[in-house]
Amino acid sequence: MQDQINQYTVEIEEFAPANAAQLEEYRIRFLGTKGIVKDLFEQFKAVSPEEKRVLGKVLNQFKQLAEAKYNEFKDGFESEGQNGAADIDLTLPGEGFAVGSRHPLSLVRNEIIDIFKRLGFVVAEGPEIEDDWHNFSALNFPEEHPARDMQDTFFIKKEAGNDIALRTHTSSVQVRMMEQGKPPFRAIMPGRVYRNEAISARAHCFFHQVEGLYIDENVSFADLKQTLFHFVTELYGEGTKVRFRPSYFPFTEPSAEMDISCTICKGSGCNMCKYTGWVEILGCGMVDPNVLENCGIDSKKYTGFAFGMGIERIANLKWVIRDLRLFSENDVRFLRQFKTEII
Ligand code: PHE
Repeated sequence: MQDQINQYTVEIEEFAPANAAQLEEYRIRFLGTKGIVKDLFEQFKAVSPEEKRVLGKVLNQFKQLAEAKYNEFKDGFESEGQNGAADIDLTLPGEGFAVGSRHPLSLVRNEIIDIFKRLGFVVAEGPEIEDDWHNFSALNFPEEHPARDMQDTFFIKKEAGNDIALRTHTSSVQVRMMEQGKPPFRAIMPGRVYRNEAISARAHCFFHQVEGLYIDENVSFADLKQTLFHFVTELYGEGTKVRFRPSYFPFTEPSAEMDISCTICKGSGCNMCKYTGWVEILGCGMVDPNVLENCGIDSKKYTGFAFGMGIERIANLKWVIRDLRLFSENDVRFLRQFKTEII
């Protein structure tokens, strides 16, 4: 038995496993339940008492040696096993994930909302499918007005006096608001609107508007001018000039169109302003007393102004987008160009 132990001792001392599998083989051979150490202890039971005194010590030392060898390598191989592979490079950069960006029209819409919110305007919304009353009649559109024509409006249902159509402007939300509430009103109406136009670089069958309504006692055209002047100064910066040109809308009297000094060339003349230095950005006017009365508001007591602008146009004057179709084609190469911070 002493000889056997000497032989195994040499074997253990020389043992140097190259991998976890060799170490496991060693463990089973020496330390396993049917391994050499166990076997020697079995044999030990049968030796004479005198021999036991000498051999007991030798056998215990052998067992410790066998275990020490195993423990020496165990940790090294264990940690390697957990990492999967020893050659992972922890300094490599991680895999980035794509962060989306806000749609340019959302960015502009939010900016417009922000400016008017600071002036105390609330945001109002309404349905995109409207009846004749809210889109036209209440707004003082005469029966024969061309906007009511099939050429301009997408009708869903044609029925004498009760046409259903896709709204052509968000003025319909103003009507709903005036009908449902009591003055004063101070609100803006952002939303998608539809017009029956051939799609091209300069026109689309749908676009986006922000309209506004302010109704109270003693509201004047001066309030309208100051509000809109403040708005463009906030939007395009100090020094932006405005001018009002007389215009016509069925629902306002007097009506005007507002131009601003060209944001691209600052008035010196470019393609955008067709070398005039001015660009039109919105329609506005004092709410026609007929509209107030149609919506149940006392037009002797209350006056107000309204305005409406296309968001695409405002965005165009910011970023010079030559083709309107880009806004709705979902081409990420276009969409990625706009700042990503969440507004
Ligand atoms: N509703 C008009 C349009 O769609 C815009 C407008 C709103 C004009 C309010 C004047 C007052 O073009």
